Amino acid sequence: MTENKRKISILGSTGSIGTQALEVIDKIADKFEIIALTCGNNTDLLRKQCEKYKPKYVCSNDKNFKMNGIKTLHGDEGLEEICSDRENDIILVAVSGKIGLKPTLRAIDNGIDIALANKETLVMAGDIVMTKAREKGVKIIPVDSEHCAIHQCIKDIKYVNKLIITASGGPFLHKTIDEMNNATVEQALCHPRWNMGKKITIDSATLMNKGLEVIEAHHLFGINFDDIEVVVHPQSIVHSAIEYKDGSVIAQLGLPSMHIPIQYAITYPERFEGIKSKSFSFSEIARLDFEKPDFNKFPTLKLAYYAGKLGGSATVCMNAANEEAVFAFLNGKIHLGDIYKITSTMTKSHSVIKNPTIDEIFEIDKEIRIRTKELIINIDTM
Ligand SMILES: NC(=O)c1ccc[n+]([C@@H]2O[C@H](COP(=O)([O-])OP(=O)(O)OC[C@H]3O[C@@H](n4cnc5c(N)ncnc54)[C@H](OP(=O)(O)O)[C@@H]3O)[C@@H](O)[C@H]2O)c1
Repeated sequence: MTENKRKISILGSTGSIGTQALEVIDKIADKFEIIALTCGNNTDLLRKQCEKYKPKYVCSNDKNFKMNGIKTLHGDEGLEEICSDRENDIILVAVSGKIGLKPTLRAIDNGIDIALANKETLVMAGDIVMTKAREKGVKIIPVDSEHCAIHQCIKDIKYVNKLIITASGGPFLHKTIDEMNNATVEQALCHPRWNMGKKITIDSATLMNKGLEVIEAHHLFGINFDDIEVVVHPQSIVHSAIEYKDGSVIAQLGLPSMHIPIQYAITYPERFEGIKSKSFSFSEIARLDFEKPDFNKFPTLKLAYYAGKLGGSATVCMNAANEEAVFAFLNGKIHLGDIYKITSTMTKSHSVIKNPTIDEIFEIDKEIRIRTKELIINIDTM
């Protein structure tokens, strides 16, 4: 990488992770060549990004969107075409939702390394994705700060006793259950530490995000659910840790900024000064607090362990139901507390398929979303 530029595509370049990835690249522009940039509908921003970075491909969901001199693609097929181009050295998958899964699989099929931000890919199809990546010798480098931390701490998985995943606790850590369950959208979107897309911010408020991260960690590092512990750490300085069998604990620390894990993932295994804002100072931080998560107040976290342990299609169901419930909350149709009711009702009544194929996964995802929407309409009778 020091001599040749690393060729990168960013799926979801207009989102929170995507725009921060471009800020990282701006600081070490001599290290990267951009192959593709993509968005869903925010073509105004995508156009500006294309004018600046001049990628080979651009992709959006707007059939009328065109850029002169750049191959213009559309929709899911467009994302998959980008991921078939072996000119890519690495693809940053930073789209939100299930849309990330098929392009990721396509990139793995083509032997292209992945910097993975998109949680749904592993939550929906972790077994398939990780098996395929191992077969193809493809690296899956996590972008999520917790998994990035664990990736940096692990030397040899066989000596690991447990993973310790930290959680900021979100905006309702010190609120009552009633205050949390009846919070407004604005209150739920007001995260104390991280500035992220709306879906993940609501998941952080209910701690479902932490549950999704536990499932991701299980797949990425091959660790049993009983050996993954979540600890609340409001300062978000310790990004996660591992305990080795001999009792030694190795943690990764840093200021709470997504630029650092994004940069780690796209430059791995090299490291550069890049966008780091200031040097880390223990004395300035002064104190680090840790506490056990309150599973009564945040039952979605418990639900994620339940679904993860069931395995197979259980996490597909939980993910789809949760996503529909989060959208309903954001659209003012349900209370924040209803998200758990809906997601747990759907998950606990789901007939699990042990080893679903990709087609079955998408079929289940579709069916669960339809049934969840029906449940949302009848929420008052629950
Ligand atoms: N934000 C974080 O700090 C963070 C941290 C860890 C992991 N993650 C994970 O990273 C992923 C992205 O999160 P985010 O916060 O960056 O989300 P975001 O701000 O909502 O951005 C999502 C990106 O995906 C694009 N997109 C959405 N729907 C699409 C569709 N149907 N087809 C094609 N593109 C689509 C969006 O395009 P438009 O702009 O046109 O809508 C945007 O570029 C999520 O899976 C999240 O869980 C995020």
